[in-house]
Amino acid sequence: MTATTPASVQAASQNHEADVADTVAAEAANAIESIEAMENRGFSSRFPLNSSFIFTFGALGGMLFGFDTGIISGASPLIETDFGLTVSQTGFITSSVLIGSCVGALSIGALSDRFGRKKLLIVSALLFLLGSGMCATATGFLMMVAARIILGLAVGAASALTPAYLAELAPKERRGSLSTLFQLMITFGILLAYASNLGFLGHNLLGVRDWRWMLGSALVPAALLLIGGILLPESPRYLVNRGDERNAFKVLTLIRKDVDQTQVQLELDEIKAVAAQDTKGGVRELFRIARPALIAAIGIMLFQQLVGINSVIYFLPQVFIKGFGFPEADAIWVSVGIGVVNFVSTIVATMIMDKFPRKGMLVFGSIVMTVSLAILAVMNFVGDVAVLAVPTMILIAFYILGFAVSWGPIAWVLIGEIFPLSVRGIGSSFGSAANWLGNFIVSQFFLVLLDAFHNNVGGPFAIFGVFAALSIPFVLRFVPETKGKSLEEIEQEISRH
Ligand code: BGC
Repeated sequence: MTATTPASVQAASQNHEADVADTVAAEAANAIESIEAMENRGFSSRFPLNSSFIFTFGALGGMLFGFDTGIISGASPLIETDFGLTVSQTGFITSSVLIGSCVGALSIGALSDRFGRKKLLIVSALLFLLGSGMCATATGFLMMVAARIILGLAVGAASALTPAYLAELAPKERRGSLSTLFQLMITFGILLAYASNLGFLGHNLLGVRDWRWMLGSALVPAALLLIGGILLPESPRYLVNRGDERNAFKVLTLIRKDVDQTQVQLELDEIKAVAAQDTKGGVRELFRIARPALIAAIGIMLFQQLVGINSVIYFLPQVFIKGFGFPEADAIWVSVGIGVVNFVSTIVATMIMDKFPRKGMLVFGSIVMTVSLAILAVMNFVGDVAVLAVPTMILIAFYILGFAVSWGPIAWVLIGEIFPLSVRGIGSSFGSAANWLGNFIVSQFFLVLLDAFHNNVGGPFAIFGVFAALSIPFVLRFVPETKGKSLEEIEQEISRH
């Protein structure tokens, strides 16, 4: 085609393309300017942001995390029949989000140390919108996998960004509780997903299939995250690191309404002093200056998954169907019940988080999980499975409670606080990616394990119990205590090791 086009026409078309490129560039610049103008207004009295708004919206990424990972348990059997998929294709639709999350978590950290937490929260909100929209309108297997990977990128990015963002904004006395809001949002998102599964199942509203509504309902929190992202202030610690003390002071004043300007100035000085000693952030610095923090973060995140939490969150209906012969509808209700226990226990965690040492709470959680899993396993091996459904349910509820008041929130709280400022973004990225990797391993092998033990739930839960027990010496040896200390104090202490 090009060979037969006269040169003058080609030149004209090239000029036209250059004009279009200029116009697009100018429009992009305008868009960025107006986003920046909106951001600036966000600081002003036009949007009197209070800290509840900031922390709730800041944690909203957690809700999408919970929703998008939880929703598929109800939607996947419907998609399987609708698209005529094989079992392994359906499995891949579930796990593709975890692959995307691992990549999203790994790639976001360096970008957030460079461009700031806020801009990347906006980018992840846009990815959430795109992924959710594509999921709801998917026409076949490939489009669904692509959509789930995009969603995964967003979930992974939010899981690395949000803990660091919340920790950097919170005052030290309340940092544990405020950072736990992320986990609270995750558990709320999971609960909403179960509710949406139940609510939409079998109702093809406006002639649109039920599973499309289930997946599409994620557009609402995604839009809220976008609005929040535009209005939220940038992290004051990131601003100091970029040399923008004026705005750092403004943000600190905005979020510390209950203290006077002298105290704000003191906090700013402490941040500045530590930022001034920091080296340039990057992977090499992460391994050099932050190795103890990295070992703690990766270990905590792997254990958080290897204790098997998502075998319950994603597969509980299957456990009761396969293990105890429950009908599907009853099995879904069991998972709703567990979702409620998870959410309510996390509310308790937000209330007690700053009252007890984090390490003590982790060990407490490990003991509760180890004991409940051990009893559950022994019982299912030696007892009569036909009468064990209810005791198993009760033990699973204890196990969830143990997780929800400890490892659930604290793992995410810790990765936001233990890294030095210069590598905080990239450090949280590594920690978060380890979490997604652990999640992927458990999700891929749980049903295989259950099968290997002839559907006796005692088998896989015994293995998870071993990890819960092993997590205790790990915490005692490798995890630093962070409760009540400022991020700057934690940084000084960890770097002395
Ligand atoms: C974990 C998730 C899990 C959730 C359950 C989070 O802390 O990272 O994988 O699904 O807790 O509440």
